[in-house]
Amino acid sequence: MGRCERTRNRVQSPPLFSGSGLPPCPRVSATRSHKSHSEVAAVILAAGKGTRMKSPKPKVLFEICGRSLLGHAIDSVRGVHARSIAIVVGHGREEVRREFEGERDLSFVTQDPPRGTGDAVRVAMPSVPSSAELVLVTYGDMPCLAPTTLNRLIEAKPRGGVALLTVTREKAHGFGRILRDPDGGFAGIREEKDCSSEERAIREVNVGVYAFDREVLVRVLPRITANNAQREYYLTDAVLEIAKHAGLVRLVPLEDENEALGVNSLSELAMARSVWQERILERHLANGVHVVDPETARIDVDVEIGVGTVIQPFTVIRKGCKIGSNCEVGPFAHLRGESVLEDGAKVGNYVEVKKSTLGKGVKAMHLAYLGDTTVGEGSNIGAGTITANYDGKAKWPTLIGARAFIGSGTVLVAPSTVGADAIVGAGAIVTRKKIPAGDVWVGVPARPLQPKGPVARAAASGSASAKPKRKATKTSRVTRGGSRAASRRSR
Ligand code: UD1
Ligand code: MG
Repeated sequence: MGRCERTRNRVQSPPLFSGSGLPPCPRVSATRSHKSHSEVAAVILAAGKGTRMKSPKPKVLFEICGRSLLGHAIDSVRGVHARSIAIVVGHGREEVRREFEGERDLSFVTQDPPRGTGDAVRVAMPSVPSSAELVLVTYGDMPCLAPTTLNRLIEAKPRGGVALLTVTREKAHGFGRILRDPDGGFAGIREEKDCSSEERAIREVNVGVYAFDREVLVRVLPRITANNAQREYYLTDAVLEIAKHAGLVRLVPLEDENEALGVNSLSELAMARSVWQERILERHLANGVHVVDPETARIDVDVEIGVGTVIQPFTVIRKGCKIGSNCEVGPFAHLRGESVLEDGAKVGNYVEVKKSTLGKGVKAMHLAYLGDTTVGEGSNIGAGTITANYDGKAKWPTLIGARAFIGSGTVLVAPSTVGADAIVGAGAIVTRKKIPAGDVWVGVPARPLQPKGPVARAAASGSASAKPKRKATKTSRVTRGGSRAASRRSR
C-alpha cells in the first residue's frame, strides 16, 4: 500500500488550506469502505499529438483487442463509477468526439495548443462538478490501468492532499522521477528532461495518475508556471505545490507494472495489446473455455464463450461475439461482427463468420464465408459455401432453416432463403431465391430437382439410403460431398 507521507514546509507561502494546522493523515487499510464514488470526477488527458505513431490517425483511436486506447481509459474510470468524465482533446478532436458520439456520460473539452499536463487539467476544471470531492486524473493513452488500482488510489487520497501512482522499473526512460528527501519523504517529481545525471538514475517513477482533493487542486493550478526545459505547465508541479504548502502527498506503488504502460509508438501499442490479450485469455480459461493454444488465439474484449467450448489455434474472435457451450472454433477461423454460435455449433478451418447466427449444433467445418446469415439448428454448411451478401452497394441477408443441408461449393446470392430440411446440391448457385422447406435444389442457376420425393432427396443428400434401386439417373449424381467420384464410390 502507499506510504502516508507528510511533507515539510520548506518554502514559506500563503496557506493553501483553510483551518489551522495539518489535516489528519487517514490510515489506509484494505477493509476501509470505499469513498462514495459520486464524489469522484474523472479527467482523462488525451490532447497529445502522438507523433511517434507515425500516423495521421489520433493516437487514442488506435485499437487493442477491439477497443480504442481511449475506450480502455474510459472503461477504467467507469469501473470506479466516477460521477463525471471529462476528456481533454486537442489533435484530431473532431474524429475523437465522433467516435464516442452518444455516450452521454462523457464531456469533451478542447486544449489547443497542448501546453502541458497541468494546462490540460486546468482546461478541464470547468467540467468538474463543484460538488465532487476528488479529481481522478488519468491518460487516454494508458489502456491497461485496472479499476481496482484506481480504487486503491481513490482510497489512499488523503484529505486535503493528493495520492499518485508510482512504479519502480528498470527502464525508467521517459518517466518523471520521484525525488525523496533524506528521510524518504516525498520531495518532488523531476521530468526526465529536467533531471541531473544523478536524478536520471532514479528508478522510482511517476505513473501520471493522480487522485487530487478537488478544492486543493483548484487552489494550486494557477500557481503552476512553465519555467522548465519543455516550457510546459507540468501537472507534477501541482503535486509539488501541495507538498510545499503542507498538504499530504501519498505515493501508491503499482502492483503490476504493466498497468503503467503508456502507448507512444506502435511498438508500445503491440505491448499493451499483449497485456490485454493475456488478461482476456486468462478469464476465458478460468471460466472453463479450452483455449488450446493461448499463444495464437486472438480474442477481443466483450466476447462471451460458454463452458466446454474448444478454441483451436490461430482463431480470431472479434468484439461482441457470443459463443455458447460445447462449441468448437478453429483452427484458423475468424468470427466477427457480433456473430453468435449457439450451443454445440462448430466452425472449422478457414471459415469466416460475420454478423451471423449459427443455431445449435450447426456445422461449418471448412473454407466457408457466412455473412449476414442466420442458420437454423442442426444444419450443415458444406466446404466452400459462400453467402454472397454484398451486391456492390448494399448488404443482404441469407436465411437457412433448421436441418438444412448445403452441399459443398454452394453460392447463396443474398437475399436468399433455404427452408428447413431443404437440400442444396454441391456447386449450386442460388441467386436470390426462396427454396421451400424440404425441397432439393441443384445446378447453375439452381432449380428444383425433378422428380421430387424421397429418392431425389436421398440421392442429393448422398446418404446410404440414397442408392437408387434402379439404374443410376442424373439425380443420383448430386451428392453431399459434391463430387461425382464420391457418388460413384458410394455405389
Ligand atoms: C508525464 C508526467 C511524468 C510521468 C509520465 C508518465 C508531467 C509533466 N509529466 O510525462 O511525470 O512520468 O507522464 O507517462 O505530467 N497531454 C495533454 N495535453 C498536454 C500534454 C499532454 O492532454 O498539453 C496528455 C497526453 O495526451 C497524454 C498525457 O497527457 O495522454 C501525458 O502526456 P505526455 O506528454 O506523454 O507526458 P510525459 O511528458 O510523458
Ligand atoms: Mg508520455
